[in-house]
Amino acid sequence: MKNKIDSYNQLKESFTAVCDKETPWEVGLVSLLALIKEKNPLVSWVGVYLWKKDRLWIGPYQGKLACLYIFKGKGVCGKSYEEQKTICVENVNEFEGHIACDPESQSEIALPLFKNNQCVGVLDLDSKKLSAFDKIDAQALKEILLKLNECTV
Ligand code: SME
Repeated sequence: MKNKIDSYNQLKESFTAVCDKETPWEVGLVSLLALIKEKNPLVSWVGVYLWKKDRLWIGPYQGKLACLYIFKGKGVCGKSYEEQKTICVENVNEFEGHIACDPESQSEIALPLFKNNQCVGVLDLDSKKLSAFDKIDAQALKEILLKLNECTV
């Protein structure tokens, strides 16, 4: 537990170093994805789905090839986007409608992603370990996403 908090504090510190008011949001985002993957060995896939026209399309990510698009309300990501709330899934096999891009994925967390106060998509993290994510991850990732919005130009 303590280690997780420490590791997120380190992540925030590294992210603050690369993301400031001069940094374009997209540059902040890809840097953040790299840091999340580097700092958390439990994360097998991290990336974003971005709303375009009528669905969520895959955006930048780190990990194996993922599903190209997801409709609003579908899967963990579509639901997180529709409800604009964080969804933490301890066991993806027990989540009705879960979309298995990687059959080895066991747990997942999705958070709404905001840009200029508008929900533009979701941030999604997968793990091959059950219950890899909890309230600590939800809170820390939410805070880091607020930080990302500071670097919107
Ligand atoms: N499992 C997600 C799909 C995206 S991948 O995990 C990268 C979902 O149910 O929405």
